Amino acid sequence: MASSMSDQKFIKSFSIFLVLGVVLTLFLIFLGNLNAGTITDQVRDGRNAMAEAGNNNSLQPVGQISVAGDEMAQAETVQLAAVAIDGAGVYQNACMACHAAGIAGAPRVGDATVWAERIAQGNETLYTNAIQGLQGQAGVMPAKGGNMSLSDDEVKAAVDHMVAQSQ
Ligand code: HEC
Repeated sequence: MASSMSDQKFIKSFSIFLVLGVVLTLFLIFLGNLNAGTITDQVRDGRNAMAEAGNNNSLQPVGQISVAGDEMAQAETVQLAAVAIDGAGVYQNACMACHAAGIAGAPRVGDATVWAERIAQGNETLYTNAIQGLQGQAGVMPAKGGNMSLSDDEVKAAVDHMVAQSQ
């Protein structure tokens, strides 16, 4: 019986030990959740604050500036592309043959009088007529000056050059 008594004692103290252990574990889990909850809340609060700041009117100009910056960067790229095309070079290669001396009725580059009326039509019309060609009263302007390997932008650059020289 003595041994069974000590068995009972052992079982008793062991179950107390077990229960304590379970309680302690539950407590630690609870504590962990509590902390985690607090931290998540803090993070969430921080995010909310940032989101609110983002919606705040006083900060919107920053966003607009960056958008404007993007547009300016794009405009710059477009301008660079136009600058990269050598309008004067294209003119010399493909247009000068007729337009320098006014051959076959071509409006002579540098002659502001003959160009004034044409320039008055607007750049888009000049571009279109240079790219697609023009059967006019003065003569025949072949499409792209007869050089179909030119891109539309190259022809436009040449037109810009001619107009700039004829004002
Ligand atoms: C074969 C000769 C010839 C060549 C090459 C030529 N042109 Fe012309 N171009 C003409 C003639 C002729 C006219 C006038 C047509 C008319 O209005 O009767 C003209 C007119 C124009 C006009 C005025 C169009 C308008 O609406 O009034 C532009 C712009 C022009 N040419 C651009 C160019 C460009 C750019 C090139 C080179 C890529 C070029 N031309 C090459 C003969 C030529």
